[in-house]
Amino acid sequence: MRIVVLNGVNLDVIGRRDPGLYGGLALSELETRIYEWASELGCTVRCRQTNHEGELIDWCHDAFDWADGVIINPGAWSHYSYAVRDAVELFAVPVVEVHLSNILEREEWRRFSVLEDVVTARVIGKGPDGYREALELLVKGNE
Ligand code: DQA
Repeated sequence: MRIVVLNGVNLDVIGRRDPGLYGGLALSELETRIYEWASELGCTVRCRQTNHEGELIDWCHDAFDWADGVIINPGAWSHYSYAVRDAVELFAVPVVEVHLSNILEREEWRRFSVLEDVVTARVIGKGPDGYREALELLVKGNE
């Protein structure tokens, strides 16, 4: 199984952001864990991060013909980017939306995600381990 992990805006600096919210790992450390979890689970992953909305959308388009499952954390775009939503909606494969922090218990404007009704599942507020849970959901769903 091939899974693409797409991290959006400001996820490149999670190591500098509030560790109480984001877990304190650098993105490279998070990605190392994701690659290890994927090999334990017997799947192939490709991790990508960008601060450019159009690039994230291009990577969604690239993944249409490659991925059997998608994990996406669009960062702040989750709350307002209809362009990201439209791209995600086109996936024919399962998509899991991940948020490191518990957006449901933060500021009012963070509680809503424009992706919430176009994804297959959501993993919210579990920190870096949320990506493992998302991988497991996709692998289980593919069995
Ligand atoms: C985030 C939550 C968003 O509200 C925020 O803008 C982020 C990260 C999370 O992973 O908790 O950048 O998506």
